[in-house]
Parts: sequence; C-alpha cells; structure tokens
Amino acid sequence: MENVMEVKDLRKEFKAYSSRTGLKGAFRDLLTRNYKVIPAVNDINFSVRKGEMVGYIGENGAGKSTTIKMLTGILTPTSGSIIVNGMNPHKEREKFVQTIGVVFGQRSQLWWDIAVQESFRLLKKVYKVSDADYNNHMGHVIRTLDIEPLLDKPVRKLSLGQRMRCELAAALIHNPPLLFLDEPTIGLDVLVKLKIRDFLKEINEKYQTTILLTTHDLSDIEALCERVILLDEGSVIYDGALKNLQEKWSEGKELKFQFLEKVDITAVKVLTSELPVKWELEEKEQVFTATVEDSGELISQVIAKVVAAYKIKDIKINETSTEEIIRNIYEKGAV
Ligand SMILES: Nc1ncnc2c1ncn2[C@@H]1O[C@H](COP(=O)(O)OP(=O)(O)OP(=O)(O)O)[C@@H](O)[C@H]1O
Ligand SMILES: [Mg+2]
Repeated sequence: MENVMEVKDLRKEFKAYSSRTGLKGAFRDLLTRNYKVIPAVNDINFSVRKGEMVGYIGENGAGKSTTIKMLTGILTPTSGSIIVNGMNPHKEREKFVQTIGVVFGQRSQLWWDIAVQESFRLLKKVYKVSDADYNNHMGHVIRTLDIEPLLDKPVRKLSLGQRMRCELAAALIHNPPLLFLDEPTIGLDVLVKLKIRDFLKEINEKYQTTILLTTHDLSDIEALCERVILLDEGSVIYDGALKNLQEKWSEGKELKFQFLEKVDITAVKVLTSELPVKWELEEKEQVFTATVEDSGELISQVIAKVVAAYKIKDIKINETSTEEIIRNIYEKGAV
C-alpha cells in the first residue's frame, strides 16, 4: 500500500530565552539575550500508509503539536524531510492544503462572529468545492454530527462540544483523504466523544481516510487506532501495534477492594507480605488497589487473605489499563 506520509530525520529546534536577574541583567538582556536551543522534535522517522488511523501520543510538551504543525506546513522544520500526499507541505502550501483536513482542539479555525454555515460557505469557496459535492457529502456530515440546529448560530455562542463538532465538519468540507486531529475530543462529554469516534470510524471505512490523532484520552486511541507512535521528549520511543504494547507492558491484574470500615494500609500490606503484591491507596475513601501478576492462583490467594480479615463492600478485578501501561513506560524511560 502507498505511503501518504513519510517523515525522515525530522527535527525542530526552538530557542528558549532565559532572563538574567536584576537590573543589570535586564539591561544586558536588552543587548544580547541568553538562549538555549531545545529540540522539540528530535530527528524522528515514521511513515503512514493510506487508510491507517494512527495514535500520536506523548506527555505534555513531548512534541506532538510541533510535529503536526510541520506535517501540515504551518511550521518549517529545522532539518529533515517530510513528504505528505506526495508534496512538501511547506513549499507547496496552496496545493497541499486542498489535500488535508486539520483540527486543533485548542483553537478554533472557524470565524468567531459569523454563523457556522457562513464559515462553511467560505471554506467551500476556498476549497473550490462544487455545490453537488458539497450537498452530497456535507449533508451527510451535518446529519451524522448532529449540527443542523447549530448552523445559523455564531461560533462564539456555541458550547465547546457543539463547536468541536462544527470544527470537525469544517475540516471535512473538501472531503480530504488525510486528517490531522490534535486533541479533537478535549473537554467533551462522553456522548459527544462517542459520536465523534463513530464518525471517524465511518469516514475511515467509507473513504479510506487516513487519520493521525493526538489525544490525552487513551480510550480514544483504544477505540480508533491499531497503531500508536509514542513520543518522549521529541523522540519516537515506540512505533507499532497498540496490542503489542499492551501485551508487553501489561502488569497483570488490578484488584480493587473497597472496605466497609476504616482499614490501615500497612496492616493490609503485612497481611499479604508473603505474596508478590503491590498495594496502592486511592484518593477515594477506603479503596485499596492491589496489582498482581495475572495468575488465577495468586489472585485467589490475595482475595482470600483480605476477605478473611476484613469486611468488604465491593471488589473489582481489572486488567491494567492502557493509561497505566503508558505511564509505566514513561516512568521507566524506554520500550
Ligand atoms: N513556538 C514555540 N517557541 C518555543 N518553544 C516552543 C514553541 N512551541 C512549542 N515549544 C516547545 O516545544 C516543546 C514541544 O511542544 P508541543 O506543543 O509540540 O508539545 P505537545 O506534545 O503538543 O504537548 P501537549 O500535550 O501539551 O499539547 C515544548 O517544550 C514547548 O515548550
Ligand atoms: Mg499539543
């Protein structure tokens, strides 16, 4: 299958200026400023095939948005090369933007004071979409994202979730084969999130739309992306199947006990001291979590010991979540 994106040794450095202290320092800062060069994106390589939905994840400041800005031609790389949809995003900007859709959850691309449908109309002109194509494609988008009642409202009067659905629709006016979504579900309620997920799945199936998705909500990734690229301080530390990551890094099962009466965690630790268990106290009252290897015998032993000693209100057994797996990876530093 063809690659729609090829990134080679891509690097972006920013200058971080530091201020000197005191009045003397301030005067010196006027003349020459001290700065450090920080590589926000540090020589990364990856490629994406047509129709893939890739999760691009990492902690705050890892370099995700910077990468997306370079991939969409908003920022110029310090070095390295990018080919997206067969073009250099920065150099062939005008032709290039016709072939992509972008949503930055952190900032609006719609015109704040005019009605949503006027924004759509302007974008339709910008992208030179024919009436027939627009009606055909956008009719469906508008229905699926349920934004019909919002079309005559100015963007500034929309709630966050309403606005995000309109942003997504706006990014799709020219039905681009490639979508960049930088935190598209930030701050949305569960229902809107599910709607957006379903919609993304649908266009991916229907048009083979390629999607690069950044989010801090790993359930978005679990729902949509088979493949993840994990970024840490500007470097790619994992690129592959989400499933492999989960298998390799899963730390077994979590047993969540909620006690009826006040229980001391040290006592619980002593109780199970002969077993390989890691205990954690949750912020909520009287909920203790034991992490154990995924073995039926061990799980039974832990439960038996605890239940014999204390009255239990509730007990839950969970797989370790993807969130924890990722947190683990960051804490240990490598994959
Ligand atoms: N215009 C800029 N000037 C200087 N430094 C910048 C600029 N933009 C980003 N940075 C720095 O580059 C690094 C990567 O930022 P980036 O916005 O790409 O992170 P991110 O992975 O998107 O994080 P988040 O999850 O918080 O959105 C950060 O250390 C940030 O401070
Ligand atoms: Mg970002």
